[in-house]
Amino acid sequence: MISIVEVGPRDGLQNEKVFLSYQTKVAFIEKLSLAGVRRIEAGAFVSPKWVPQMADSKKVFKTLQHSQKLRKKTQLSALVPNLQGLEVALESGVNEIAIFGACSETFSQKNINCSIKESFKRFQEVIQLAKKNSVKVRGYLSTSFGCPYEGKVSLSRVEKIIRKMLELGVYEVSVGDTIGVATPKQVRNLLNRFEVSERQKKLAMHFHDTRGTGLANVLASLDLDIKTFDSSVGGLGGCPYAKGASGNLPTEDLVYMLHGMGLKSGIDLEKLIHVTHWIEKKLSHTLPAHVSKAGIFT
Ligand code: HMG
Ligand code: MG
Repeated sequence: MISIVEVGPRDGLQNEKVFLSYQTKVAFIEKLSLAGVRRIEAGAFVSPKWVPQMADSKKVFKTLQHSQKLRKKTQLSALVPNLQGLEVALESGVNEIAIFGACSETFSQKNINCSIKESFKRFQEVIQLAKKNSVKVRGYLSTSFGCPYEGKVSLSRVEKIIRKMLELGVYEVSVGDTIGVATPKQVRNLLNRFEVSERQKKLAMHFHDTRGTGLANVLASLDLDIKTFDSSVGGLGGCPYAKGASGNLPTEDLVYMLHGMGLKSGIDLEKLIHVTHWIEKKLSHTLPAHVSKAGIFT
């Protein structure tokens, strides 16, 4: 079984200019859940000045707490940058959060307005309070394969920062190719620095398909024991602080490939494609995923 973390409602929508109502966001998340998606990043408790689209995450989570259309097995999570964000997340009934850092200094400054060292101090405080409240913590590391401001990032540096984040006590680190520059050899070279059990249990891969290498990178990761991938329905989104970071790996393209290879995801591909068509209408534009355009081949 491959675990898919659907990041469309957060990583996807954060880049969209059309502001969706919280009711539409809730309906989007419910539809994903009903399509069998078990892990969904449903919002972010970040500054509304930095990311306006996430300003109503509290309402989204509060409404979902009483939803009849969310499957019991669905695990929701929220992005949290600091204690202020965590406090609102706790008030909103969130029971899983994700902290997010970077492998390059300039990206860290542009995205969360502090150095990598300072960010780890914040993460420590956030994790401490989260654990006190029995909230699970996942970690993200952006620019793990290249930075839009600094260019190449060395593998040894990325390995060191991943290990540092794991030592903080996150249950999993999502290794992000924020601007979609990774190629399979680079992915293999990074993953080979970790033990099989670390790759299986502690690492997830977060690819963007900006340059068409997303699925090739998934294949390289599967060969090296990775069991968890982040993706975004329709290929929605990107990061507002990384120019050109369009195109998260589309969930339907990932699921189509996994199922074709005999791997299970628990997701109903047909229902998922309907979700893409539904959100395309809400956003008034088409999305880059291939499978929702071409249809399923049976
Ligand atoms: P700052 O301006 O340095 O914060 O931002 P501050 O502590 O100096 O406070 C300034 C103001 O922000 C104050 O308000 C605070 O109350 C407010 P004011 O007095 O000016 O009215 N503030 C907050 N408001 C709401 N929620 C909070 C919060 N914290 C402070 N949690 C901060 C620092 C981290 C808040 C800011 O930089 C921020 O929100 N950054 C988030 C940017 C973001 O969400 N980026 C996208 C997500 S990362 C991503 O997409 C990559 C990923 O998908 C993986 C990949 O692909 O690589 C994860
Ligand atoms: Mg992303």
